[in-house]
Amino acid sequence: TFAASQIQLDTSTQGALINKNIYGQFAEHLGRGIYEGLWVGAESSIANTKGWRNDVLSALKALHVPLVRWPGGCFADEYHWRDGIGPRANRPVKVNTNWGGVEEDNAVGTHEFFELVELLGAEAYVNGNLGTGSPQEMAEWLEYMTAEGKSTLAELRRKNGREQPFKVDYFAVGNESWGCGGNMTPDFYTHLYKQYTTFLKTPAHNTPKWIASGSHSEDTSWAAYLTTHVKQKMDAVSFHYYTLPTGKWEKKGAALQFPEAEWASTMQRTLAMDGFIRNNKAVMDKQDPEKKVGFYVDEWGTWYDVEKGENPGFLYQQNSLRDAVVAALNFHIFHQHADRVHMTNIAQMVNVLQAMILTDKEKMLLTPTYHAYKMYVPFQDATSVPLKLTGVPQYQVGDISVPAVSATAARTKNGELYLGLVNLNPNQSETTEINLAGIVIASVSGQLLTAAQMDAHNTFEKPHAIEPKPFSAKGNNGRLTLQLPAKSVLVVKVQ
Ligand code: AHR
Repeated sequence: TFAASQIQLDTSTQGALINKNIYGQFAEHLGRGIYEGLWVGAESSIANTKGWRNDVLSALKALHVPLVRWPGGCFADEYHWRDGIGPRANRPVKVNTNWGGVEEDNAVGTHEFFELVELLGAEAYVNGNLGTGSPQEMAEWLEYMTAEGKSTLAELRRKNGREQPFKVDYFAVGNESWGCGGNMTPDFYTHLYKQYTTFLKTPAHNTPKWIASGSHSEDTSWAAYLTTHVKQKMDAVSFHYYTLPTGKWEKKGAALQFPEAEWASTMQRTLAMDGFIRNNKAVMDKQDPEKKVGFYVDEWGTWYDVEKGENPGFLYQQNSLRDAVVAALNFHIFHQHADRVHMTNIAQMVNVLQAMILTDKEKMLLTPTYHAYKMYVPFQDATSVPLKLTGVPQYQVGDISVPAVSATAARTKNGELYLGLVNLNPNQSETTEINLAGIVIASVSGQLLTAAQMDAHNTFEKPHAIEPKPFSAKGNNGRLTLQLPAKSVLVVKVQ
């Protein structure tokens, strides 16, 4: 049989561990991301647990959300933690200056955030305020969260209902310090990073991994400067990259009803993530060849023009099959760089940018991106299996030309072998032949996500319009030939 592309898996060697936190999430005080999308308050008629809505919680549990980053984003550098503790009625009302100028009543604060991650069984990533805070304020927040003795701050935490310290798994010093976090240069930030981290102290068994705020897109100067000048208390440098169909912030492109040229440019722009990570890894390798410092892509995803009639500051957008394909392509890139990329956080979990879940008051829907995350759950904490992809045809539109097929493979802790495949060509199915040196493929089974339209999506009226469907195929003499439908994401277990 004629096979357009060939995937050769090398099951004799092991690739890097795919840290489960590559599938991490981000929830900022932004639009309806936290308020309404996740938090409705205990008094709400929407069923909830300690104020967190049950429908959204159970959908997120099915995703095995490994980690949540909070409270921002740009919001983090204007967030003062003392505003969010104590009786809710007494908490100050602030203006969310970054996101729509709306009132922020601080109903969700430190205790509520930890209740959320504990309900989800996720790790906690707290982003500290460098931009408008002080070393003292940041140090005291950490003391409040982690102190075990009878210090005034530990006692205040107990008075507010929490006897045991919170487990802070990750802590970042500022966010986008090159922009909304203070418009700093790498050297100015690096001095501040060293100054602040000097005073951040926790009990030895509850020390977070320390994250320095890095750069975005093609810029490698922050990763280079930080890894050259910070030799302690820096477990990772963060990085942000958003996929805009047009690449222009003034007119990014629509979430739905876009032309094929924008499907193609979205694919091309999202695949640029690979080069950005490669270049940053190259500069980090010079200073840190042992790869002690991680490279965390703690914001990424699609960013479209805001939906008509929505508050422009709320960054609410629909989510279609295109977003699921974007998500899967990025998972494959992250798996490939899993030796340095130990965490990523898609922006954002609910109702904001490339969300898993959209809500409309009591209604909720799961997006195609949600389904992609669910299909890739077996890859969390699996070990990647190196593979070679040959003979892949290009998908071409105008000046754009990108490989039509992307693939990833990994072995779970239980020894199961999984394959993830994407055909990003929206017009043509692709035949792919899979070979496992020395291993006979009897069959594969899993789930396929595809649809007739490039912008197939779920609405509150039709919440199940696009969902994954069961998929299976049989091997022939140890080989397997798969037909990947146009614009599809496939995850299968090899048996
Ligand atoms: O995710 C939305 C915003 O994008 C974040 O607040 C900021 O860090 C980034 O610019």
